[in-house]
Amino acid sequence: MSGVMSYFITTAIAYVNGPPHLGHAYEEIATDVIARHMRQRGEDVFFLTGTDEHGEPVADTAKAHGLDPQAWADQNAQRFIALMPQLNISNDFFIRTTDPRHKAKVQDVLQRVYDNGHVYQGLYEGWYCPRCADFKVENEILDGNRCPIHEIALTRETEENWFFRLSAFQAPLEELFAANRDFVMPARAMNEAEAFLGSGLQDVSLSRGKLSWGVSVPWDPSHVFYVWFDALLNYYTALSFANPEEDYTDRYWPANLHVIGKDILKFHTIFWPAMLMAADLPVPQRVFVHGFLLAEDGRKMSKSLGNVLDPFEVIEQLGTDALRFYLLREVQFGQDGNVGLAGCRARYESELANEYGNLASRTVAMLRRYRAGNVPAVAPDPEIVAQFDGLAEQVSALFDRADCTQALELIWQRVRRLNRYVEERQPWQLAKDDSQAAALDQTLTSLYEGLRVLSVLLDPYIPQSVERLLAVLGAPDTALGAARLAAAGPLAGGVDLPELSPLFPKRD
Ligand code: MSP
Repeated sequence: MSGVMSYFITTAIAYVNGPPHLGHAYEEIATDVIARHMRQRGEDVFFLTGTDEHGEPVADTAKAHGLDPQAWADQNAQRFIALMPQLNISNDFFIRTTDPRHKAKVQDVLQRVYDNGHVYQGLYEGWYCPRCADFKVENEILDGNRCPIHEIALTRETEENWFFRLSAFQAPLEELFAANRDFVMPARAMNEAEAFLGSGLQDVSLSRGKLSWGVSVPWDPSHVFYVWFDALLNYYTALSFANPEEDYTDRYWPANLHVIGKDILKFHTIFWPAMLMAADLPVPQRVFVHGFLLAEDGRKMSKSLGNVLDPFEVIEQLGTDALRFYLLREVQFGQDGNVGLAGCRARYESELANEYGNLASRTVAMLRRYRAGNVPAVAPDPEIVAQFDGLAEQVSALFDRADCTQALELIWQRVRRLNRYVEERQPWQLAKDDSQAAALDQTLTSLYEGLRVLSVLLDPYIPQSVERLLAVLGAPDTALGAARLAAAGPLAGGVDLPELSPLFPKRD
């Protein structure tokens, strides 16, 4: 196992207060692309996702539907579990926070925080958003005492709670931020986390006495833990029971990358590392904060405005790969972006079908027509070799910063380059002239190899299409080491390429 590194990557866990929507799909897809890339590098990846089932967001909606919270959670959790294969997500485990094994472990860890002297009883008085399950501090509140995220009126809460001494972690967090400038990425998110820290930390509620839907506090069973601490701990607890045969905690903790949306930055970059420190546990390496997907008109997606991009509709019309490709191509990962069905169709047509799909079709068709399906065993064109030189390394370096959008752009530049190469070389002309046989061999080998390498690099993004194409090319290896042009003739020897049906067929 020498040289193999463990790589633990997570998504946020979704509230089960409703069905999955595009925001959830986006986070799953982006995280999946990174996880798949890391597996291509040969790393020992563990990819965790799941559902957040306690707290007010779930209890309130359960009540509104006339169900008890567990029945409501069970029903909705199934929809999130079903989402994974629909999006072709390669998660290694799916945690539900109502799992008794999670609950027991939450109690263990938080008991340790209590035993370490970081918990005290006090009176909470302040503003609270039941949709965020968030006690807001003064500078987070909109005028009229409204939630900055949901814009709904905050409730005034006065309750006797157990408190976590967050303020005691001001200096340790400052040190963490100073020592690891990539703890929060991208830089804008780091600035936001530092600004929050800079405003001075106040202690936070660790428990709720008014709520019963949660994990009970071992030293005071009349309280349940505040849902955020229960939820954050999923990243740690899951490792202890994901595999009944092996406790994965030592193998994978601390996490390498938590992928989250910008609305939950404070919890992951401030509360979470402080809580881990209070429990004497190592903190994660990085938190990557992605932006929000907005409608094509730039407004928030909402059913009443009719501007919602429904991931299931895209999958049905254009396929899972199209949705995966579109979201990562259209929106710079880490920033907000506008998305819609029209844009998705346009990229399907112009990029997937007309650029990559067409490159694949014409390459396979020409090899069959001019060389009876055999890939000539000659070296590829030095000019194409130069274009691909260092590409896999550059893509890897971008993935080290979770920049899956720029990585895709680098790959796509080569897709376009190869299509131009076809136009420049005009293989159909070369084929008419026997004296050009060597030039035709070189052209076809260059196209075959270039297409194969690009497909390996595209595998994390559009795995279904790539794996179908690579099977036709007779070169199924998707390890990153295979993303290199073979120096002297093709790897596969390429005998008898079968026909390729269109990767991205025309849709109405
Ligand atoms: N349950 C909490 C997270 C606990 S993590 C220990 C939660 N759940 S959520 O269902 O509201 O959101 C889950 C994830 O989806 C979050 O990272 C959130 O930012 C993301 N998104 C929700 N709507 C989104 C968009 N419209 N666009 C992009 N991502 C968004 O928060």
